Amino acid sequence: MCGIFGYVGPGDAVSIVINGLKKLEYRGYDSAGIAGVKNGQLKYAKEVGKLSVLEKEVQDQGLRFDIAIGHTRWATHGVPTKINAHPHLDTNHTLAVVHNGIIENHESLRSALKQKGVKFVSDTDTEVVAHLIASFYQGDLLEAFRQTVGLLKGAFAIAVVHKDFPDRILVTANQCPLVVGVGNNEAFIASDSHALAKHTREVFFISDAEIAVVTADKVEVFDAKHEPISKELMTLAYEAESIEKGSYAHFTLKEIHEQPQAIRNAMGSRFVEEYGSVTFEELKFDINDLIGVQRILILGCGSSYHAGLLGSYMLEDLARIPTQVEIASEFRYRNPIVKSGTLIIAISQSGETADTIAAVKEVRAKGTKVLAICNVQGSTLTRESDGCIFLRAGPEIGVCSTKGFTTQVVVLALLTVLLARMRHMSKQEGQDFLHHLQKLPDQVQQVLNNSAQFEKLAKKYANYDSAFFIGRRYMFPTSLEGALKLKEISYINSSGYAAGEMKHGPIALLNPKCPVFALCANKTTFSKLESNLREVKSRGSPLVAIAEEGLNHLGGIPDDIIRVPETIDELEPILVTVATQLLAYYIANERGADIDQPRNLAKSVTVE
Ligand code: M6R
Repeated sequence: MCGIFGYVGPGDAVSIVINGLKKLEYRGYDSAGIAGVKNGQLKYAKEVGKLSVLEKEVQDQGLRFDIAIGHTRWATHGVPTKINAHPHLDTNHTLAVVHNGIIENHESLRSALKQKGVKFVSDTDTEVVAHLIASFYQGDLLEAFRQTVGLLKGAFAIAVVHKDFPDRILVTANQCPLVVGVGNNEAFIASDSHALAKHTREVFFISDAEIAVVTADKVEVFDAKHEPISKELMTLAYEAESIEKGSYAHFTLKEIHEQPQAIRNAMGSRFVEEYGSVTFEELKFDINDLIGVQRILILGCGSSYHAGLLGSYMLEDLARIPTQVEIASEFRYRNPIVKSGTLIIAISQSGETADTIAAVKEVRAKGTKVLAICNVQGSTLTRESDGCIFLRAGPEIGVCSTKGFTTQVVVLALLTVLLARMRHMSKQEGQDFLHHLQKLPDQVQQVLNNSAQFEKLAKKYANYDSAFFIGRRYMFPTSLEGALKLKEISYINSSGYAAGEMKHGPIALLNPKCPVFALCANKTTFSKLESNLREVKSRGSPLVAIAEEGLNHLGGIPDDIIRVPETIDELEPILVTVATQLLAYYIANERGADIDQPRNLAKSVTVE
């Protein structure tokens, strides 16, 4: 949450930073600011609202900098106001600080500074950092920064510029992402490597407690003991175009439409068709670690948790491995029981979700190995795990997870085949499953080709205030995901429910003003679901069925039917999810919602 971008070099620092922040706006968008140095003076601008407001202000003021740092905020401490927006400055405006994360001990630091006569202007935890550096500064910025960082507790990424040092940005990070990009006589800092793709592919991440002095031609890095260290550069895999909207109205729509290719990439080169099995070349797990797995525990948040639920169904059904799924934010505080023989799978699109990372640290401290399923190279989760399988979905910018979710399910399906083939799944069964997977990208395309129907239905269902998504077996986690998508981007109060649970309470809410989206694509339980559909209908709720093409027993119950191609029950969630994504997208669009940047949300939830 919150985005930091900084630039040192001969280019136009203001426009480079503003454009960099545009790539990070999905991380927070309630206010934004920029600060930099020109002719020995520190100047800044901050504005409430989207980055476009700041961009206009910067243009109106004609700001020009030699170096600059910028920030786009998702408020934690202090409401979104101009004063609380970053950068934060010391009293004499000698230095400016941008910060992502939370300084947990800011209250005590603030009191100590106040006792020394420092006057605070904002409600933020960040402002203490600016005043602390100023209080320690005696001509050596690095030393003042070191002393300050030594006092901070919490998860943070921080960047500082000072009027006396117009050639450098100082940065540090602790449990928060911060990447340094190295160009040709120029350097960049960013909260997310995607934001650097236009400028450089050569990057490294700041690890916990490291401090770096970033200048155009040299980056010096120091470890927690202040010893100089050398960092290995990694080369980013993606193209700058992959983080442009292109002709799409929203990133979310673009990413929904990218799913056939994203799924192809997630599967590409991983099939071992001859043996009906799967291989993950990047997975550095010992084969015996996988053969010996007796239990699986999956951790994740939001959509990643829903993907984990689907994974657990597949792993139990096909690999016959008992699998538990936990919401990471709950799990981390439970002093969990983790028996030997348990494989932990941590799922996160961004690899930066604070709760998932904390849960991973907790189980690793107990001596258990963690396998990450993640989309972002070099992200914290990939560095905190024992092995990683990448989604290969390409950058996901829209706040709601779309191709991130479906590729997570694909990777979990592949992992299921691998583990099942190590157990009792026959070669033929493995090959059959892979065959169904292979057909998925074209089947997803078929759903996408039906967009006009979704647009039409959206007009009919856009004006309700609440809705249910119901389903059984594989369609239950799918209903949770469908409801999350709709509520997140359209602000309709939607809930996902196991269809059989409706009569244990939620059915009381059904009435003609509350539509129900019934996910009917689970063959093994359809006859049971049919009774649930009748129960819904007799309470007067408008009923939309999402059903496989071959399912002909809907008997005129639903008001509307959306058809998706037929596949096996395990993979049907992917096709139905694409349908619910399109439905949510067009309903949100119909309601005029801010689809890529829904209110109160941010893409990577890097705070608790
Ligand atoms: O990056 P992660 O997969 O760890 O993110 C987890 C959730 O924050 C995320 O899935 C969130 O629920 C999405 N906005 C859902 O669309």
